[in-house]
Amino acid sequence: MNYFREKVIWITGASSGIGESLAVQLSALGARLILTSRNENALLQVKSQCTGNAVVLPADLSSCRFPALVQAAMAAYGKIDILINNAGIGQRATAEATSEAVLRQIMELDFYAPVLLTQALLPYFRENGGGQVVVTGSMAGLMGVPRRTAYAAAKHAAMGYFESLQVEHEIPGFSITIISPGRVRTNLSLNALHGNGARHGRMDEGQEKGIPAATCARKIIQAIAQQRKHVVIAGQEKWLWWVRKFIPPLYYRIARKYGSKHV
Ligand SMILES: NC(=O)c1ccc[n+]([C@@H]2O[C@H](COP(=O)([O-])OP(=O)(O)OC[C@H]3O[C@@H](n4cnc5c(N)ncnc54)[C@H](OP(=O)(O)O)[C@@H]3O)[C@@H](O)[C@H]2O)c1
Repeated sequence: MNYFREKVIWITGASSGIGESLAVQLSALGARLILTSRNENALLQVKSQCTGNAVVLPADLSSCRFPALVQAAMAAYGKIDILINNAGIGQRATAEATSEAVLRQIMELDFYAPVLLTQALLPYFRENGGGQVVVTGSMAGLMGVPRRTAYAAAKHAAMGYFESLQVEHEIPGFSITIISPGRVRTNLSLNALHGNGARHGRMDEGQEKGIPAATCARKIIQAIAQQRKHVVIAGQEKWLWWVRKFIPPLYYRIARKYGSKHV
């Protein structure tokens, strides 16, 4: 885990859940951090849990000027070694009930933000002999999920973009790690959007049964250190990925049944 010592790591969505756990654990491994999300006070709380250097850089990634934000992040330590695109927002609504505004809001944060931050950093990584980009996708980026049409679309799009970039780029020393978590016990369902933009505000049963955020973060950190291309991190629900891959008709039946039982 010397891999992280003195590395400058920019974590988005660092104020809670998986991002918060990543910050605390990476800091303990000697990394220097840049912490981004909208809520500055929550970021300062996370910073206070970090043992090493951490700089707070608040931003709304669904509506920001990415080149200016990248410049501000670069100014923190004069370099960036790893960008962890982790900020995200969930959905709890059918396709019919989801307004265009919510569809766009989810695409902005879950797809455009990681893509535009990455694109803004690529010339820098090329000039500086490499770097690493990590993206927190989702198992919903690998299969369709009821009441997650916009969320699954954004995560599938991110998967398509980053996998394509993996096989396209010719930047020496540059790598991309895609993480597809299953259910993780965080505030994701509380913060998820209804079709009219209202906050779901409830801890769903499935979310509650998820693996702890700290466990997810530990596995993400291992995947980053090993420069893995794609890792699925999940509890028992990981088998759904195999069913979707090898017996799709069974997956469709299970997903429909699961969808009718859950919010
Ligand atoms: N939990 C799961 O079961 C699960 C499963 C698969 C994938 N994921 C993915 O994991 C990532 C982290 O989610 P989480 O589970 O840790 O949920 P979370 O606790 O709700 O964290 C979401 C993070 O994103 C930030 N964020 C939300 N809107 C933002 C915006 N407009 N601009 C900047 N930051 C914003 C939030 O901070 P602020 O409110 O301070 O902005 C928060 O730090 C997401 O990409 C999510 O899709 C989670």
